[in-house]
This record gives sequence, structure tokens and C-alpha cells, in this order.
Amino acid sequence: MSPRASHAHRSLPLLLLLIHACVHLSTPVAVLAERTGYIVHMDKSAMPSHHSDHRAWYAATVASVTDASEDYRAEPQLLYAYDEALHGFAATLSASELRTLRGTPGFVSAYPDRRATTLHDTTHSMQFLGLNSVRGLWPESKFGEGVIIGMIDTGVWPESASFNDAGMPPVPSRWRGTCEPGEDFPPSLCNRKLIGARYFNKGLVAANPNITLSMNSTRDMEGHGTHTSSTAGGSEVPCASFFGYGRGTARGVAPRAYVAMYKVIWPEGRYASDVLAGMDAAISDGVDVISISSGFDGVPLYEDPVAIAAFAAMERGVLVSASAGNNGPGLGTLHNGIPWLLTVAAGTVDRQMYAGTVYYDDTRGRNSIVGVTTYPENAWIVDTKLVYNDLVSSCDSTEALANSTADIVVCRDTMSLNGQLATLTEAGVAGAILISDEGDDFEDNMPLPALIISPKDAPRLLSYINSSWLPTATMKFQQTILGTQPAPVVTAYSSRGPSQSYAGVLKPDILAPGDKILASVAPISPSAAIGETQLISNFLVESGTSMACPHASGVAALLRAVHPDWTPAMIKSAMMTTATTTDNTNSPITAAEIHDTIVASPLAMGSGHVDPNAAMDPGLVFDAGPEDFVALLCAANYTNAQIMAITRSSKAYNCSVASSDVNYPSLVAIFGTNATSGDLHFKRTVTNVGASSSVYHASWVSPVNVDVSVSPGRLEFRSVGDTATFEVTIKLTASTGGEHAFGEIVWADVSGKYRVRTPYVVL
Ligand SMILES: *[C@@H]1O[C@H](CO)[C@@H](O)[C@H](O)[C@H]1NC(C)=O
Ligand SMILES: *[C@@H]1O[C@H](CO)[C@@H](O)[C@H](O)[C@H]1NC(C)=O
Ligand SMILES: *[C@@H]1O[C@H](CO)[C@@H](O)[C@H](O)[C@H]1NC(C)=O
Ligand SMILES: *[C@@H]1O[C@H](CO)[C@@H](O)[C@H](O)[C@H]1NC(C)=O
Ligand SMILES: *[C@@H]1O[C@H](CO)[C@@H](O)[C@H](O)[C@H]1NC(C)=O
Ligand SMILES: *[C@@H]1O[C@H](CO)[C@@H](O)[C@H](O)[C@H]1NC(C)=O
Ligand SMILES: *[C@@H]1O[C@H](CO)[C@@H](O)[C@H](O)[C@H]1NC(C)=O
Repeated sequence: MSPRASHAHRSLPLLLLLIHACVHLSTPVAVLAERTGYIVHMDKSAMPSHHSDHRAWYAATVASVTDASEDYRAEPQLLYAYDEALHGFAATLSASELRTLRGTPGFVSAYPDRRATTLHDTTHSMQFLGLNSVRGLWPESKFGEGVIIGMIDTGVWPESASFNDAGMPPVPSRWRGTCEPGEDFPPSLCNRKLIGARYFNKGLVAANPNITLSMNSTRDMEGHGTHTSSTAGGSEVPCASFFGYGRGTARGVAPRAYVAMYKVIWPEGRYASDVLAGMDAAISDGVDVISISSGFDGVPLYEDPVAIAAFAAMERGVLVSASAGNNGPGLGTLHNGIPWLLTVAAGTVDRQMYAGTVYYDDTRGRNSIVGVTTYPENAWIVDTKLVYNDLVSSCDSTEALANSTADIVVCRDTMSLNGQLATLTEAGVAGAILISDEGDDFEDNMPLPALIISPKDAPRLLSYINSSWLPTATMKFQQTILGTQPAPVVTAYSSRGPSQSYAGVLKPDILAPGDKILASVAPISPSAAIGETQLISNFLVESGTSMACPHASGVAALLRAVHPDWTPAMIKSAMMTTATTTDNTNSPITAAEIHDTIVASPLAMGSGHVDPNAAMDPGLVFDAGPEDFVALLCAANYTNAQIMAITRSSKAYNCSVASSDVNYPSLVAIFGTNATSGDLHFKRTVTNVGASSSVYHASWVSPVNVDVSVSPGRLEFRSVGDTATFEVTIKLTASTGGEHAFGEIVWADVSGKYRVRTPYVVL
């Protein structure tokens, strides 16, 4: 599988999951049974005082429930004792031991450890974000200096040039992390850039006792974690490219930030207990931002390891940024739709990564057509004969192509690009031009010099061939075109809201570059080929919300450097209220659907495309803390045990206040599909972080059949830190016909400097 084949990449994990499920169903009952992994939440305040610490208590608890009479292959095992992300542990238990455990003091809740789909959900995207060395967020934040980004991913390739530590300041004394020794990964591989590397696989090993790990250490065997971590915080690498495509200086969004890798995703599988252990360690080690480019589908908040750990992170002032997933464009497909973290959607950048050109001379002179190619070599094909006829143009028979080995064969659209490419390679033609409208999505291997041109451009070339005695052409590869329009476009695969885990908070939150992103990878498996020759690169172009997430994480790290006193909610608010909603043609950002593009709704792009320089100085922010999100959980009627799984043993929270109206920088008004009328009221409080004395006026739009009003329409602030509250009423006047309506409320200050935008959706 080519890692560049983003479609194959996205569908493979599903396949793995199905196979896994089948194995489970067909395994005969063994003589010696295996215990099952469970995640157990405990009330730490119930810990008897004779235990030295929580680990001792959990170990004693597991020992006390052990059922010795049963015929199991191994004793129950305490896999992890958690203390930051949650209070509790992961252990292997039998059904009867679990029953006993439920009656022990301090027990809160338990559920089976989950295997999740290993969802693999970066040079020029920095310029597209407006990051500039001379002014704005980059110089203001000293490129993220001093900030620690914790990556929850597949590990890291420490030798990659993106982790060179030239010019990095010493590791800060507040850092409590380590460089854990492991297979082919001595601690000496960490440095002033990669300051931490730890790996967590006890959940995976417990569920698969006889497993052989491909690499029992933090070393990345998939490339994913190397790509995401170099995108978020990689050092500068001049002259990076993927076989000549996307050539330029590669660097992370926060190139001076420290990076710490927590490997929890293994080629052999991903388990909730390992993800929790990685996030638990990241929080305890002292990271400032957590970036996680994977998620758990279809789990409630109180059993979602990302939600549970992110709540604890929020309490510590750590912002968590997570990928929305690659299951779009259907609505309601996203994961990580967790109210207290930043959920990131993927957009395109203004670059055609894989471009090539065919030149031909007809009676009107020199003509050319730009197409899509991934041919990995700086080669030219000069003045070579073009062939297009009924015999060869289906490009599906090596016999038919046998007489064209010295020619450029033109293939008509048979809807099978990869099939045609395989046949053409086998036939050994000199070059090929394929006609297809699938070129823009093509990221697969091209083992021969080939170009995909659009059916729109094809007639020009075909009529030249038809009208010429000896039609010839010249082909050029490795051309990356900048400034393409429109951009950004929300990608079709980027998962859409509303959130399955909590529909009342608008998700995703933000759009960031995620399509065809060049970044470092583990140089272990071939990523391209010429003929039969496999090629390996240190850099790779990949697509997905996995690539968008570390862009947003990097921006959050830069903002953390500039505003060390801001809460995660304030950083998130600054990114959201200043996001742009127009593309580089000055039209509303569009979203790709399966066959067309439509104006992007907030369910596709959240508040819009992240604008780092604007986020540095947002004017007003919407703040919200842990207690606000607890009020939301209370309003959702979660049980005490469910709430406690998220809030841990803290006595700081109770349900004396229940409110689903959390102070969020966006709004969802849920009337239900068949509603024809109704009023919903939202209260929002903004904090002045801009000019000390300022006045803002509200403006808003009301979609058809919806009346929006904002009261008061004017807010005045006397000093920085002042707050003001306003109410939004969304009134349904007639059925929206099952369509979701959307719009925005904008607070603009009279000086014209600030524009604080809040999108809303009516469902
Ligand atoms: C694991 O290996 C042991 C010893 O070789 C064997 O008895 C057991 O059946 C194996 N378990 C599985 C799940 O394959
Ligand atoms: C992985 O390495 C650790 C530390 O060396 C060791 O304790 C553990 O047993 C290894 N796990 C596997 C599955 O090989
Ligand atoms: C290839 O060329 C030879 C010689 O001109 C001819 O006999 C044969 O039919 C051609 N094959 C095809 C598939 O066109
Ligand atoms: C090729 O030329 C012939 C005769 O001039 C014409 O009938 C035919 O439509 C042309 N085909 C293409 C593909 O342009
Ligand atoms: C929660 O329970 C209250 C009281 O029973 C009810 O009015 C409310 O609609 C419930 N909320 C949700 C989100 O189910
Ligand atoms: C709930 O929390 C609030 C605020 O911390 C506190 O004032 C109140 O006493 C608590 N109520 C209960 C029943 O613990
Ligand atoms: C909405 O109305 C349609 C058609 O009358 C009906 O089939 C559907 O069940 C209704 N949905 C809800 C949520 O009430």
C-alpha cells in the first residue's frame, strides 16, 4: 500500500477491524481461558489510609478480587494505575472478578478495554496560514519557544531532520518526562527538540498475549506520528520534498517548540487503555498542548478515553487538539466531538502538489495542458509520438499496447486509473496521458511517466492528434503549482458534525490545512516506485484530518507562548472567533461533497479556517472552565458514576447547577426535524482581551424561516479583563424542511480593529 494512497489508507483500518472481529467470533473456547482487559474508574477519596499510594491500593484491589478457582492462563494483571487522566486502573479480569470488583469500596464504573480502528486520520501550509517570519504570531511567539507539545500517536523517527535541535534552548526544568529506553531506541536519541519519548502497549499485549511487536519502543514504524509531530513542532529543514514535489523548507507550525512523543498506536492495534496511559503520562510530564490525530467512534463521553483525559488536561490548563476523522461528507460522522477540546477539520491549501505538463505544437503554435502526476523523477519526455486510437486507448491490454513501447499513449476515461496505470507499466510504454476527472484526488503511485488530464482539456489534445500527420508531445514532471484557487476547500473526507457524543455543542470547531501535506516520515517502507524499483523518501505527502490536527495544535502552541495566562478555552475561542470564512477568491469557503461542492456550513468547517495572526489578538474571548462543562453533563442527565468517570474523585463538582448553555464561541439550536416553531435562548459572556476601552456592536444574519436577535446589541468595556453578557434568541417561524440552516453573529468594535464572529446552526 502506498502511504500516499489516502483513500486506501482510510479504508484499510476498517478492513483490519472486521478481520479482527471475525477472528474473535470463530475462536473455539480454549481450555485455558484468557481474562479480558477492563478500564476501571475508582473514587480515590475512598482509598483506605493504610495504602502508601493509589498504585498500591489498585494492586491490592485486583488481588482481593482474584478468583483462584478458575482455570485461566494467567493471573489477573494490573496493567496501568492512572492518576492524572482519571482515577482508576486498567486490569485483566474475569467476569466473576468484575462482579466482585463492583462491590468493593471506591468502585465507580468499569467497561471493557476497546480496540479501535487505527485511524490514520505537512512546507507551504505555513505560508498559506499567513505565518511570516517578520511580523505576526511567529516572531511574537518566538516561534513557540518554551512550549511543550505532547503527541499521542504512532511514535517518532528520532533521526529525522525535523527533530534536529540546532539552536534549541535547554530542556526546561519544569519538564518531568523521560526518554524511555526500548528496542532500537536508546535514550540518547532524545535531544533539545525531541525532549520525551514513551510507549504504552500493555493493553494491546494483554488482549493479544502471544503478540510479537514489530518494534517494542517509541520508534515509529508507520510514519504517521513522525509526520504529525514534525507538522506541529518540527525544526526547519531546507530543501525538503517528496521526490521533487512540494519542494521547499519544511518546518513545523511551532518550529521552536519542544516535542514529546507518546506512542499508543501500534501497527498491531490501538487500545483505549494505552491511549489513556499515554495521555495520563503527557499531563503528568507537564506538556502544554496535546495533539491527538485519532479518535474513538460511537462511544459516550464517559467511556471515551480522549474525552476523559482531555477533561483532566483542561483542568491543568493544557489545550487538547484532536482530529475530526475522515468519514465525511455525511453529516454526523465525526469523532472527538468533545465539548472541552478543539476538534479539527481538514481543508485544502492553495497548491496543486502533483503537477506536470504536456506540451504540443499545433497550427496555432506551442500549446500546453497542465495535469496531475506523481511520477517520482525529474524527467522529461521530449518530442515523442502520441498515439490515440480505438485499439490502444482503453489501455487495458498489454498485447494491444505492445507496438507502442516507444510512444506516449493517450487513454480514454474508463474510470479505472490504477488499472490503466498497471497495464501501461507492464506494457512498458514510454509515457501515457490519461483522461479522467479524478485527477485532483489522485495520490497513488505512478511507476511510469504519466499525466492525468481533465476531460475538459482533452479535446484540444485529441483534435491535435487527429489533425496531425505525426503528432508528438513533450512531458514534464515534478511541478508543484502554488496559488491555485479556490482554497481552502473543506475536503470531502473530513468528517462532519453534529457531534455524536454531544450534539448541543457545534463541531467541528475549526478548519486547518490537511490535504496533501508534506512532512517527515519514517524512511522504512517504499512510498513510490519507478517500474519495479521501489523508492523510499524521508518526506511524505499525506492527507487527512490527522494532518489538519497538528497544524491547529501548533497554532495553539504559538498562542500559548504569547498568552501564558490564557485558559485552553480562551485559546480555542481566539482561534475560532477570528477564523476566516472566505477563500482566496473572496467567496464563502466551499466544501467538497461526493460529486460537487457547496457552501461550507459550520458542520463542515466549524468557525472557519484558522488564521493564526488574527488569533493572537482577538479582542474578545469566550471563556469556560471545568465547572461549566460539568453543568453541561448534569443537564444531559448523566449519572453520578458517569460524571465521576470524567471529573475523577474531585469534590469540586456537583450538579447544583445544570445548564446545557455552555459559554462556547458557537451555537447550536436544536428544534428537531419536524418542528415548525419555537424559541431558544442562549446566554454568552465575553471577556475583553483587546483595547482597554472599547465599544462593540452586534450584527447578524437570519436564514429563511429563522429569526435571530441579539440583546443588547452594544457592549462597552472600560478595561482589559472586563466581561459583558448578551443573549441570543433563535426563533423558528416555519419548518426548515429538514435542512439545517446556519448563520453568524459578529461583534465589531467601533475602531474597526476587532471582529469577533460566532457561527450558529439550526438543526
Ligand atoms: C499463546 O501461546 C500459548 C503457549 O504457546 C498457547 O498455549 C496459547 O494457546 C496461545 N494463545 C493464543 C491466544 O494464541
Ligand atoms: C517490551 O519491552 C519491555 C521493556 O524492555 C518489556 O518489559 C516487554 O516485555 C516488551 N514487550 C513485548 C511484548 O515484547
Ligand atoms: C504490431 O505490429 C505488427 C507489425 O506491424 C503487426 O503485425 C501487429 O498486428 C501489430 N499488433 C497490434 C496489436 O497492433
Ligand atoms: C478526427 O477527424 C475526423 C475527420 O476530420 C472527424 O470526423 C473526427 O470527429 C475527428 N475526431 C476527433 C476526436 O477530433
Ligand atoms: C433530564 O431530566 C429532566 C428531568 O427529568 C428533563 O426535564 C430533561 O429533559 C432531561 N434532559 C435530557 C437532555 O434528557
Ligand atoms: C455544590 O457546589 C457548590 C459550588 O462549589 C457549593 O456551593 C455547594 O455547596 C455544593 N453542593 C453540594 C450539595 O455539595
Ligand atoms: C417527522 O415527520 C415524518 C413525516 O411525517 C415522520 O416520518 C418522522 O417520524 C417525523 N420525525 C420525528 C423525529 O418526529
